[in-house]
Amino acid sequence: MPADPVIGDLSDLARVQTASFEMLHNGAKDRRSAFHTPVFVSLGLDGRPLSRVIVLRACEPLQRSLRFHTDCRSPKVEQIRHDPRVSFTFYDPAAKVQIRCEGQAVVHHQDDVAAKAWDMSQRMSRMCYGTAPAPGQVIAQPDDFALPADDDAIAAGEQHFCAVVTRVTTLEWLWLGHGGHRRARFIWDANGQAEAVWLVP
Ligand SMILES: Cc1cc2nc3c(=O)[nH]c(=O)nc-3n(C[C@H](O)[C@H](O)[C@H](O)COP(=O)(O)O)c2cc1C
Repeated sequence: MPADPVIGDLSDLARVQTASFEMLHNGAKDRRSAFHTPVFVSLGLDGRPLSRVIVLRACEPLQRSLRFHTDCRSPKVEQIRHDPRVSFTFYDPAAKVQIRCEGQAVVHHQDDVAAKAWDMSQRMSRMCYGTAPAPGQVIAQPDDFALPADDDAIAAGEQHFCAVVTRVTTLEWLWLGHGGHRRARFIWDANGQAEAVWLVP
């Protein structure tokens, strides 16, 4: 089988694992990457799966962590605190690669992780956290909400800012090839040892 320009040797499970985290890492850094805006799924308080698009802010391959930012008043935060099992789905049509990650999420609010992420955020991104009333509230008219009016009000939005960090416990990779698809799965145990297997695509 020829090497893939992104993955390299498609018959090497270790290479697929490394390349998957490289794609996630690049997805967080590159706003134009298809991996920048995955679908994130949490479980509703009644157990329903609930999905939405988020911006991937960071991926640390060694920690197997994925980070995004959200408003602590948004329903997904209560959902994650209630049941931390979450999943992400990424698809890059140019690379023809889908990656699905499952893991356990932690909400960082008013701690060092949140403070560092807030410090690195752009002014435009910070604006959202000063929205009043809270995201998801029912309003009578579509513009019945206000964004922060000045720098002090934007800074006050930090009280609503959360960084959600997920430690990936299962990663599934699917590569769509003309001559045949390829699929692999990696499951990490509590010691960080991965069980890597090929799956029928
Ligand atoms: C391209 C795009 C990027 C988004 N990024 C985020 C994000 O990083 N964090 C976030 O909380 N919501 C983000 N949203 C909005 C969410 O999809 C969702 O509508 C909102 O967070 C409410 O979700 P919830 O009610 O399930 O908590 C984004 C939406 C789009 C379309």
